[in-house]
Amino acid sequence: MDHSTHRLLIEGDMRRLEALLEQTARSDAELQRKILGKGDLQLLDLACGACHEANTLARVFGSSEREAGDNRKMQFVGLDVRAREIAEAATRFTGDLHSEFSFINGDATKLDSYKQLPGAFDVIFMRHQNLGDGKRTWEEIYHKALEKLSPNGRLIITSYFDGEHEAALDVIENQGGELLVTEANETSRRLDIPGKSVDRHLAILKRKG
Ligand SMILES: C[S@@+](CC[C@H](N)C(=O)[O-])C[C@H]1O[C@@H](n2cnc3c(N)ncnc32)[C@H](O)[C@@H]1O
Repeated sequence: MDHSTHRLLIEGDMRRLEALLEQTARSDAELQRKILGKGDLQLLDLACGACHEANTLARVFGSSEREAGDNRKMQFVGLDVRAREIAEAATRFTGDLHSEFSFINGDATKLDSYKQLPGAFDVIFMRHQNLGDGKRTWEEIYHKALEKLSPNGRLIITSYFDGEHEAALDVIENQGGELLVTEANETSRRLDIPGKSVDRHLAILKRKG
């Protein structure tokens, strides 16, 4: 696939992700408050790879429907073990009035060891979580993510597959998460493997209790 075709596909995926996120967030008053609120917001994009979704999240949580004079800043941190993807993301996303980006090449199972991170995040996003790639590792990633949420914080995941999504929700609940809403993406772009499509499901969770 040539570069411009690939770029167009990603742009389409991003438009659909933004619509899905905004639509699903309407079922969660607290997340809606976080989107529209005026205070600064800390967002962690965990296992973000090349972080294609950074600008989409910045639009939703940083600049959407801002009134003049509302200077909300979204502090965005992207983290992934893959050095090349993180380096690419760092050159691509530089920030604007409402968003400040930083990227860490790191291991999400050791989230508590990155002292440069804020104590807690209002939103932790995991696009295409990868439970199928190693249950033990992903249990630990979900555990660390839930620990790093602010008291009213929200964990948002998307998945490529139906079964993997269901399994991930079970694992997150076992790690202390509570499912608030999950939504199937009716316009998800199909991929080459049967049953796999882009942002096929999106779920919003919080920490129990
Ligand atoms: C299916 S990819 C999704 C990447 C990106 N979020 C996306 O939607 O394109 C899963 C990502 O998890 C990352 N990953 C796996 N184990 C990790 C770990 N322990 N810490 C941080 N990232 C990890 C991989 O490097 C990969 O980028």
